[in-house]
Amino acid sequence: MDGARLPTTAPILILLGPPGAGKGTQARMLEEQFGLVQLSTGDLLRAAVAAGTEAGKAADAVMKAGGLVSDDIVLAVLTDRLADPDCAKGVVLDGFPRTTAQAEALDQMLHARGQAIMAVVSLDVDTVKMVLRVAGRYTCGSCGEGYHEDFKPSKVAEICDVCGAQDMTRRADDNAETAMSRLDAYQISTAPLIEYYAKQGALKRVDAMGPINDIGRSIANIVRTG
Ligand code: AP5
Repeated sequence: MDGARLPTTAPILILLGPPGAGKGTQARMLEEQFGLVQLSTGDLLRAAVAAGTEAGKAADAVMKAGGLVSDDIVLAVLTDRLADPDCAKGVVLDGFPRTTAQAEALDQMLHARGQAIMAVVSLDVDTVKMVLRVAGRYTCGSCGEGYHEDFKPSKVAEICDVCGAQDMTRRADDNAETAMSRLDAYQISTAPLIEYYAKQGALKRVDAMGPINDIGRSIANIVRTG
């Protein structure tokens, strides 16, 4: 962990990018490197679906179809999680905000708390690579470590390198057809946030086509320089 080199206020970093851009992969690396907390609205919603909560029941079909869950539901699950004490040390928002309404709600929330966004990192990746990454992804169901059939396979098939569990899972929305619906939703609702944050002077663009560690180094430089 490199926490001593972080700004004194709890940093809030946003990772913006289409499905498969590497938001989750990079957020987990930032968590490890800087002690920031990864807040993935996708993970929070999948947990709500698995728990069978009202929010989860409403989100389930929308997520399976590759659409966007309503702003009200997303804001409710995110606000709940942000109130947890561990978030006071700084967070990486992975997959949030995804609409202008979510971005405005976040601005209001941070303004009320006297906090500001440190940086918004846009991970730029092309469509072919995005579909390849999403279609080959699998995750350890026990510890959450992410893998990929071609780019980051586990050392021993079906066994997690990190925790040793034999519990690999695949997401219901990780197929080429749903990935294209998710990309459409990104282009219609989320891509306009690039301009939104550029106008605020918070936007940093990172080429996300290369190796995972090279992209990680670029983002770490952004975190260090604030
Ligand atoms: P969410 O879980 O956020 O999914 P997503 O945005 O579609 O993003 P992914 O998780 O697919 O990709 P990623 O960018 O994290 O890539 P990863 O690092 O895993 O959202 C799911 C759904 O929930 C949405 O469709 C929506 O319905 C709903 N939702 C969530 N948030 C919402 C919100 N705010 N508002 C409304 N609805 C919301 O990488 C992918 C694979 O590629 C991995 O296998 C990885 O190992 C590999 N990889 C990563 N980087 C590289 C690299 N540089 N080189 C080679 N391989 C790489």
